[in-house]
Amino acid sequence: MRIVVLAGGKSDEHDVSMSSGSMIANALIAKGHQVLLLDLSMDLPDVSDFDTAYQKYKKEQYSATILSTFTKQHGKEIGENIIEICRTAQMTFVGLHGGIGENGKLAALFDIYDIKYTGTGYQGSLLAMNKQISKELLRFHGFLTANWKVITKNYEPSTISLPAVVKPIDNGSSIGVSLVNHSDDLKTAVEETLTYTNNGKLLIEDKIEGREFSVGVLGKKVLPVIEIRPKNGFYDYTNKYQQGLTEEITPAVIANETKMKLQHLAKEVHELFSLEVYSRTDFLLSDSGDIFIIEANSLPGMTPTSLFPQEAQAKGIEYEDLCQKIIELSMQ
Ligand code: DAL
Ligand code: MG
Repeated sequence: MRIVVLAGGKSDEHDVSMSSGSMIANALIAKGHQVLLLDLSMDLPDVSDFDTAYQKYKKEQYSATILSTFTKQHGKEIGENIIEICRTAQMTFVGLHGGIGENGKLAALFDIYDIKYTGTGYQGSLLAMNKQISKELLRFHGFLTANWKVITKNYEPSTISLPAVVKPIDNGSSIGVSLVNHSDDLKTAVEETLTYTNNGKLLIEDKIEGREFSVGVLGKKVLPVIEIRPKNGFYDYTNKYQQGLTEEITPAVIANETKMKLQHLAKEVHELFSLEVYSRTDFLLSDSGDIFIIEANSLPGMTPTSLFPQEAQAKGIEYEDLCQKIIELSMQ
């Protein structure tokens, strides 16, 4: 099959996406597909269809060194000939994280151009990516999620109760997330987080003490529960992507009843947000035994340290088969 793997793009998660994208591309090549790994924001000069691009770029692109040939693109959100190349491929595997790849804009464009792509459509992407919308929807439907406030730069510090977690509304990989324990640190945290949010709004959530878990959904299957235990601090960008800094226990060692509840919730959240093909929902089990939903991800990381592939592996699905399965489910 002729497959474009889209990665990179103009997103704060560009590097994470290049890591996911190159792993996915290599897996699909191993499965016998013709694969073109493209940075969403990059033009390929003089190329407007899959076959020409494949012939021209094949040699440079099909190696593990591909990562070093890509640089973060600042100029535009989408290369001018990307749509044309995706239109002549048989499937576009969305290996993007954050930005237009995850907030629904690209999915909407693909729908308009009748391009076949993996995973969730524009509506589910938007619902999962925008944490203000997600949390309101979760609460409306009776799911537990930490109490929160949405603020802009004109917030009133005396209204914020600490400790709190400060987050961008619409970013991922814990980029721009900080834990604030003391009021002296609030101003700096808010200013920093504002640089990572795309709409000038950010989220301040009550800090909940407890254990962190994650559960993936793949097609109709719910994957085994994984527990995440950073060796230091919280599960931030460094602890997520630097090998060895976090203990990931799959399957998690928890009571059967808790495991079943988490898996049931992952499925319910997947459906509530209209997620398709695959997703991963993150949870906190509070010290008092309540399960809080942190968020759902319509484009779970597929990097060497990412949770979703580990959960799949615990179910006996190896990485290459996982990528193949995502393609197959997305064809239906
Ligand atoms: N946003 C990152 C890639 C994740 O959810 O895994
Ligand atoms: Mg996320």
